[in-house]
Amino acid sequence: MFYPEDIVEEVRRRNDIVDVISPYVKLTRRGGNYFGLCPFHSEKTPSFSVSPQKQMYYCFGCGAGGNSIGFIMEYENYSFQEALKVLANRAGVTLPEVEQTEEEKRAASVRQQLYDVYRDAATFYYYLLRSPAGAKGMEYLRGRKLTDETINRFGLGFAHTSGGLYRYLKEKKGYADEVLSRSGLFKYSESGERRVYDAFWNRVMFPIMDARHRVIAFGGRVMGEGEPKYVNSPATDIFDKSNTLYGLNFAKSSRRKYFLQCEGYMDVIALHQAGFDCAVASLGTSFTSGHAMIIKRHTKDVILTLDSDGAGRKAALRAIPILKNAGLDVRVLSMKPYKDPDEFIKAMGSEAYEERIKQAANAFYFQSDMLREEYDLTDPGGKTQFQRALAESLTQFRDELERNNYLEAVASRYQIDQRLLRDEVARLGGRAVPINPETGDEPERRKKRARDSGITETERLVLSEAFSGGIPGDVFVKLFTPEDFSEGVHRELAEVLADAVKAGARLSPAELLNRYAEDSELSGRAAAVFSASLPEDADPDRKKKILQESIRRLRRLSVERRSAELEADDRTALMELMRLRKRIDTETYEL
Ligand code: UTP
Ligand code: MN
Repeated sequence: MFYPEDIVEEVRRRNDIVDVISPYVKLTRRGGNYFGLCPFHSEKTPSFSVSPQKQMYYCFGCGAGGNSIGFIMEYENYSFQEALKVLANRAGVTLPEVEQTEEEKRAASVRQQLYDVYRDAATFYYYLLRSPAGAKGMEYLRGRKLTDETINRFGLGFAHTSGGLYRYLKEKKGYADEVLSRSGLFKYSESGERRVYDAFWNRVMFPIMDARHRVIAFGGRVMGEGEPKYVNSPATDIFDKSNTLYGLNFAKSSRRKYFLQCEGYMDVIALHQAGFDCAVASLGTSFTSGHAMIIKRHTKDVILTLDSDGAGRKAALRAIPILKNAGLDVRVLSMKPYKDPDEFIKAMGSEAYEERIKQAANAFYFQSDMLREEYDLTDPGGKTQFQRALAESLTQFRDELERNNYLEAVASRYQIDQRLLRDEVARLGGRAVPINPETGDEPERRKKRARDSGITETERLVLSEAFSGGIPGDVFVKLFTPEDFSEGVHRELAEVLADAVKAGARLSPAELLNRYAEDSELSGRAAAVFSASLPEDADPDRKKKILQESIRRLRRLSVERRSAELEADDRTALMELMRLRKRIDTETYEL
């Protein structure tokens, strides 16, 4: 960490978590806590909780959790330092000039310099397109029916002859070779004397921007036919294509309720020009869950509008489960008989496209149409196989009503006897619990997980009560050591707690969460501990009883684990553990 701990803590304390989260999530008070729809996974009933008392958030649905700094990091995709700056600003705290290590300074400044290089490069290409040297590029873009307004809005540019950009950045702007070579904008040849070439020349240039409108990469297209059609910037310290969506900087402020996901630069631009400012593309690279999570920050509905050719249909088939697993509703738009949104809109206009949006059907129909193409339906065997596969895919709907609706729809779509299809689905459903699409778990593994999660729940409850005083500190220290807990974060918290008890110090959950802020997984696990609580509606006696049994259970589990780990011939240790085990059955705990 880069700022002193007490400064971090001051910034955190001066930002009430409810105020920090409210602009992002609509919160409703329930008892001592607030609840809302989780911004980190898709849900219909609120399981996202914010505790003003503990100054932390936790989602009982997806396990995301942390304090206010962690929330801003997670939501805005900021680094710890960036989030801290935002919160310091918000509360009017002036952060001190900090001592950065040489390495931190270099890393921060390399990124900053790369942003500067890309901004200046984009400016260079931009003016070139609008100069006489760029006439060819301008003619090409106008030939593709882009208006001047669109060309400006997307910051399109032109790369002329090789060497121009290098001279501009090096001589006019004074960038050092070290940063220029890291930018990916140049190629170096080592044969004989060292020579530098611009990576892009004689191409129209598409700047790729991040959500904050900063240029982070380029795509360059040949004018007309030629290979390769597009050249793209390589990955750099500021560009990771599996987390970048072209058009996001505009789409994120669209007033439409959905995102249109298309294939490339020209589709995004054509759609925006036609008024569909919610279009994004993953730029020819395969679509990743990183892309899906980014989309989910802005909407829960995605309409795929990928090319109608074989490659586009395959890409859609791959993207659908990724989007669904992220909790998004996916529909597929048909552009037939045209190939892509650009062609469709040129031929049919934006009203016709709007109509296609309305007609876009749930991705399930697309998936089953694709499935049908795999089988020869004129052959009875092929037909049977298709129906089996279709029944199988219907089991993905775990909600019975929903499954039934799709079942009826596909039965009539493919003229299958509804009753037969239903029997088949029931048979498949009866044979095994469907594999959980999110974890890929099969029933056996799931049972083990359920058991593990019982242990986890017990550990959480005991730790949480120990932190809040429900279990007095000295009692906790007498009964438990960190090794009694089964996982890393729990052990660490048990240790911190024991130290605090010995030192007579009080701990705040939110302050402890500072140390996990850099790792959202750990932060969620720690927050899960602090939000574990006894059933609110239980009377005091019952609560005490639950707590005592939880302590006993945890003590037993620990003995079992230690016994299992003993060397087979360590008889004395084994006897000792057996005696302890007996004692646990009858011991009482002073709460
Ligand atoms: P397309 O070939 O469909 O490009 O590739 P496009 O955007 O429709 O472009 P036009 O209309 O032919 O000019 C889709 C995307 O795949 C990536 C680009 O991001 C492109 O927009 N791609 C394609 C490349 O990166 N390199 C290539 O050579 C081709
Ligand atoms: Mn295309």
